[in-house]
Amino acid sequence: MLSMAIYSQSIVNSKHNLSVSGPGDIKATSESEICIFCHTPHQSSPRKPLWNRQDPGSVYEIYNTSTTDASAGQPDGSSVLCLSCHDGTIALGDVLSRAQPIEFSGGISVMPPGTSNLTTNLSDDHPISFIYNSSLAASDGELVDPSALSAPVKLENQKMQCTSCHEPHDDTFGMFLVATRSNSELCLFCHQKNGWSLTQHNLSNATWNGSGNDPWFHTPYTTVAENACENCHTPHNAGQDSRLTNYQAEENNCLDCHNGNVAASDVQAEFAKIYRHRVYSYTLVHDPVEDALVQTRHVECVDCHNPHYSNSSSSFSPQASGALAGVRGVNSAGNSISIVQNEYELCYRCHADSPDKPGSPTTRQIAQNNVRLEFDPANPSFHPVESAGRNSNVPSLISPLSESSTIYCSDCHASDNTNISGPHGSVYPHILKFNYETGTRVSESFQSYRLCYECHDRNAIINRNDDFGQNVHRKHIVEEDIPCNQCHDPHGISSSQGTEANNTHLINFNTQIVQSTSGGLEFVDDGIFAGRCYLRCHGKNHNPESYN
Ligand code: HEC
Ligand code: HEC
Ligand code: HEC
Ligand code: HEC
Ligand code: HEC
Ligand code: HEC
Ligand code: HEC
Ligand code: HEC
Ligand code: HEC
Ligand code: HEC
Ligand code: HEC
Repeated sequence: MLSMAIYSQSIVNSKHNLSVSGPGDIKATSESEICIFCHTPHQSSPRKPLWNRQDPGSVYEIYNTSTTDASAGQPDGSSVLCLSCHDGTIALGDVLSRAQPIEFSGGISVMPPGTSNLTTNLSDDHPISFIYNSSLAASDGELVDPSALSAPVKLENQKMQCTSCHEPHDDTFGMFLVATRSNSELCLFCHQKNGWSLTQHNLSNATWNGSGNDPWFHTPYTTVAENACENCHTPHNAGQDSRLTNYQAEENNCLDCHNGNVAASDVQAEFAKIYRHRVYSYTLVHDPVEDALVQTRHVECVDCHNPHYSNSSSSFSPQASGALAGVRGVNSAGNSISIVQNEYELCYRCHADSPDKPGSPTTRQIAQNNVRLEFDPANPSFHPVESAGRNSNVPSLISPLSESSTIYCSDCHASDNTNISGPHGSVYPHILKFNYETGTRVSESFQSYRLCYECHDRNAIINRNDDFGQNVHRKHIVEEDIPCNQCHDPHGISSSQGTEANNTHLINFNTQIVQSTSGGLEFVDDGIFAGRCYLRCHGKNHNPESYN
């Protein structure tokens, strides 16, 4: 029965031919039988099929993470057979049908250290020996239902085992795999990740330019599309046990490619800038099952991007770009959502109701560091991120912007290198896209307030020929060197703190410079381009000063 010709043919030229005729480095000195290392013609072990090896009896560390739905126990079924060589505890030549172990060349006894020795720590290997049934597929949500699994992938008594992916007699696809790894065909027999069909991680034909680390150090393929899941994952000897990723430090799973060596833009260079999201600082803090609202402050690439889903579409959903496809967020009402529709919903995970936020950099009359409250459309004023703004008279706007426009957080917070999108890093404080001076006195120029002048015409701000234009803007900004930041809050003023009478037009004074006078500290809105100020600033009293 064990002489099935088909097996003897395919095994002969593979590393599983451990006889003296074997092609590999690990083989017997004189034993000529091939099947004997694993099978015996006599019923020697209770295990089938005619197993010729003892059980290792090892106690294994099992793969288990916060996202695993499977309940994997100790290895069982045919996996025990594989592990009787591949956990490195039993001599390769130690077979039941021989009184003495078969001798191996080079004095090899157990599996030498290296990738083929999985050790008894299986926590960095793809999970095995668990029941893969419909309810597992349902609770995971991104697995093929087992009733739809197709050959060559197979389960053993409903269970996932080494042999679900490997066929120990046949090395046609390399690594004794049951199917090709090219384009992750093997993985896709079982896994169906949402968004996968559109992502560049599945589609891109980009190759590595040879600099830095080889992103494909453990695979035989040379394009992003061919490596697919294995661009970031490896089924064995994973750098990070959790989720079987190549590296432990979360961002390293991305940066071998997003450094200009594979992907087009050098995102890594952004994270070397002085103002940045510090993805390097929080190793092993992020967990994919954490709340959408971040409770332990941290940030990783995968907090902002879903690597299975991200794509190049510029209008993936109404407001969020394809780079942000499939990420979680917190909506304008403060509720968790599993897929953002708007970019700001991503930012609200960490910059709204989450704990441990630093205070705002500018001491203002009305202090607020919950960004969600600052951009609420019910506010007396706000930059139009969630919805169009309150003011129907903003003559400085540069076309095509108008009073009905909305803008993104990343229109202001992004790289100073305008060829790369995203608030990764910038040479300007607060990860601003353009320069924005906030000193005590600043000499006005296009460059000083370029952030604002990209959307608000400089000429219309400082040269407008009316009472407001001359006596408020020009006088302060140009003649007195007063920066925008001393009068304006760039985000908005929460309706729970500010009022329609005092906090329109993003007026929220910087109280380090603008102080109370006998009449108080107050801006009063007196209608369209009309208002009064009560304050003391740079030694001058306004008690009040008005414009009309
Ligand atoms: C490196 C170990 C190993 C070697 C060498 C090996 N086998 Fe196997 N064989 C296995 C394992 C493990 C199974 C159980 C696999 C399974 O259930 O899919 C198995 C199962 C079988 C089966 C049963 C297949 C089935 O579908 O139930 C046959 C027949 C077989 N082997 C024949 C051979 C023959 C013939 C040789 C020698 C030419 C050989 N094997 C060499 C490991 C080996
Ligand atoms: C009798 C011992 C033995 C058993 C049992 C055994 N293997 Fe191996 N296997 C080896 C040896 C020896 C090598 C060669 C290792 C090397 O060259 O580093 C190997 C290599 C491999 C490789 C790597 C192939 C390559 O091209 O590098 C895979 C994959 C593999 N085995 C899977 C399995 C699986 C799955 C099972 C169980 C179904 C199994 N083995 C059972 C001894 C065994
Ligand atoms: C989910 C599919 C899957 C399962 C389950 C699986 N393997 Fe693998 N295995 C692979 C793939 C894919 C590779 C090639 C990975 C590579 O070279 O980076 C591989 C490679 C190997 C290697 C070569 C060493 C290496 O790291 O490349 C060995 C040995 C091996 N597997 C043994 C086993 C054993 C033993 C089991 C059960 C305990 C098992 N595999 C379960 C998919 C699987
Ligand atoms: C034969 C089916 C099958 C194949 C083939 C397969 N997997 Fe899996 N994989 C599963 C099942 C089932 C689970 C358990 C899912 C769970 O617990 O939610 C799993 C779990 C995982 C996990 C761990 C998930 C977690 O939540 O921690 C990763 C990562 C993974 N697979 C990646 C891969 C990769 C990469 C490949 C291809 C090299 C692959 N799988 C091939 C069936 C398979
Ligand atoms: C560009 C990198 C990348 C690619 C490509 C990739 N993954 Fe992942 N995957 C990750 C990272 C990183 C995580 C962990 C996410 C986290 O910590 O939030 C993960 C998590 C997972 C998980 C466990 C959590 C979950 O979402 O269920 C599974 C299973 C998984 N990936 C399977 C796959 C499969 C299958 C493929 C190919 C179809 C694939 N991945 C392609 C990077 C990638
Ligand atoms: C093996 C290389 C490789 C790895 C590893 C990799 N990526 Fe990518 N990624 C690419 C390529 C290639 C593109 C297509 C866009 C391009 O060429 O610049 C891309 C596209 C993206 C995009 C969409 C941007 C766009 O314009 O299409 C995002 C977002 C992204 N990757 C994030 C990640 C994250 C997060 C990780 C780590 C979890 C990661 N990538 C790991 C190669 C990689
Ligand atoms: C990406 C474009 C963009 C940038 C950059 C920008 N703004 Fe605006 N701003 C707008 C739009 C659009 C409106 C109109 C909102 C409305 O109609 O209420 C606006 C309105 C305003 C208003 C009037 C708000 C009101 O309710 O009356 C002020 C004040 C203002 N911006 C100041 C600034 C300052 C200061 C900067 C620099 C820190 C700046 N803006 C940067 C787009 C921008
Ligand atoms: C019109 C430009 C603009 C827009 C739009 C904008 N910001 Fe800001 N943001 C700034 C400026 C300017 C500062 C620096 C403020 C200062 O120095 O007082 C800042 C500061 C910050 C800070 C640090 C201090 C603080 O207030 O907590 C965070 C965090 C922040 N922004 C997040 C966001 C998020 C999230 C969004 C979108 C929901 C957003 N910003 C939209 C211009 C903007
Ligand atoms: C704080 C959230 C955040 C973090 C952290 C983050 N990104 Fe981004 N990323 C974004 C946003 C937002 C965009 C721009 C989306 C848009 O407007 O198109 C973006 C854009 C990108 C793009 C497309 C860039 C281009 O213009 O070609 C890539 C690639 C990318 N990110 C990869 C990464 C990688 C890799 C990491 C980690 C090293 C990372 N991101 C960390 C939010 C983030
Ligand atoms: C997962 C959490 C997380 C998300 C999501 C996130 N951030 Fe941040 N952000 C942080 C942390 C943490 C810091 C503090 C710097 C650091 O440690 O990386 C920060 C810092 C910043 C700063 C600099 C603040 C300062 O005081 O200078 C800005 C601006 C900012 N983020 C904007 C954004 C924008 C815009 C988005 C959405 C596209 C966003 N962030 C999404 C966690 C996050
Ligand atoms: C001394 C305080 C002060 C300073 C400094 C200041 N503003 Fe204003 N700004 C105001 C007041 C008050 C209004 C409201 C006018 C009204 O009644 O509609 C206003 C209105 C605006 C508007 C809406 C009207 C329009 O012209 O479109 C914009 C935009 C604006 N400011 C931008 C800026 C920018 C950019 C700077 C810095 C270069 C700046 N402001 C500096 C007080 C100031």
